[in-house]
Amino acid sequence: MNSFRRSGLILAASLMLLFSAACGGGNGAGGNDKEPANGGNQVKQTNAESNGEQKDTSSNKKITLGFSQVGAESGWRTANTKSVQDSAKEAGFDLKFSDAQQKQENQIKALRTFIQQKVDVIAFSPVVESGWDTVLKEAKDAGIPVILTDRAVDSADTSLYETFIGSDFVEEGRRAGQWLVDQYKDSTEEINIVELQGTTGSAPAIDRQKGFAEVIASNPNLKVIASQTGDFTRAKGKEVMQAFLKANKKIDVLYAHNDDMGLGAIQAIEAAGLKPGVDIKIITVDGVKDGFVAASEGKINFIVECNPLLGPQLMQAVQDVVDGKEVEKRIVTEEGVFTSEDAKRELPNRQY
Ligand code: AHR
Repeated sequence: MNSFRRSGLILAASLMLLFSAACGGGNGAGGNDKEPANGGNQVKQTNAESNGEQKDTSSNKKITLGFSQVGAESGWRTANTKSVQDSAKEAGFDLKFSDAQQKQENQIKALRTFIQQKVDVIAFSPVVESGWDTVLKEAKDAGIPVILTDRAVDSADTSLYETFIGSDFVEEGRRAGQWLVDQYKDSTEEINIVELQGTTGSAPAIDRQKGFAEVIASNPNLKVIASQTGDFTRAKGKEVMQAFLKANKKIDVLYAHNDDMGLGAIQAIEAAGLKPGVDIKIITVDGVKDGFVAASEGKINFIVECNPLLGPQLMQAVQDVVDGKEVEKRIVTEEGVFTSEDAKRELPNRQY
C-alpha cells in the first residue's frame, strides 16, 4: 500500500471514531445503555424506552411499604387507615397493610414478616409505647428504615427509627385541661371529674392523661375521682361509664381520651336519665364526624382535635428516606380545638 492510500485509510478510520463518539456510542454497547449520571440513582435506559414504548428505570422502581396498623378500634383509626391507603395509592407505592387488632404481638409478627419480605420501608403506629427495641434492631440490621406514625415508642435509641410523624398528645391533654380550668375559674365548689383513658400503655393514653393532670393542678377544686381505660372503643366507653355512674353520686365532668369512648359514655349517661353536656360536661379528643354531630347537639362541650389524615406526610417521608434525603426526626401535626358552637359551624366541612 502506498503512503498516500495508507494516510487516506487512517483519516477515514479517525472520522468514523469521531462520529461514533458524538452519537453517544462510546460504551461500545450499541448505544442503548446509558451510564448513570447521578451515582447511586442508576437510570437504565432500555431498548423499549429508546423505542418510546415503556420506561424501566431503577429510580422509578415501585417502592414497597410495609404498614402495621393498630386496629380498627375507633372512627379516628378508620379515617387514618383510609388516609394511609389512599395516599400510598396516589404515590404509586406497593402497600403491604397489616391490621394488628390492638395486639402488640401481632404487630411484632407483622414487622418480622415485612423484614423477611425485604420491603423498602416499614411504617407503623405502635399499639403501646414499650417493648419495641428487639424488633426495631432486627429491621435496622436488615437495612430497612422504619417510620413511626401517629404513636411513639419509648426506645432510648432513637437511631432505630427515621422519624416520628404525629400529634403532640401531651399538648392535646393540656388543651382539654385548659378548657376546664377556664370553665371553672370562678367556682368555689369541688368539681368531680371522671376520666376514660385510652389503651393502657399507649402513647396517647399516657400523654393525654399527663397533659390534662398538669394543667388542672392549677385549680385544687378540680378533682379526678375515677380514671379507667375504655380501650379507645365505644363499647368499652359505655361499659366503664355505667360503672362510674353506679359508683359515684356526683359526676360533674367526663374527660374521654377519644370521641368513641365519649360517644359510648353518652349512651350510658342518657340511659341513667341524665343530660350529656348539661348534667355532665363532656370533653373528648379526636374530632371525627360523629363527635362533631354530638358536639353540635350540645352533648359534647369541647373537642380537642387529633388529626388522622397522616397519609400524605407519611408517603412524603417514605419517598425522602428512599431517596436518601434528610428527614426531620419529629414531624408534629397541626390541630385545633372546637366548642359546641364551632362544631355546629364546622360540621358540614368535616371530611371524616
Ligand atoms: O393514637 C391516636 C388515637 O388512637 C386516637 O385518639 C384514637 O381515637 C385512636 O384509637
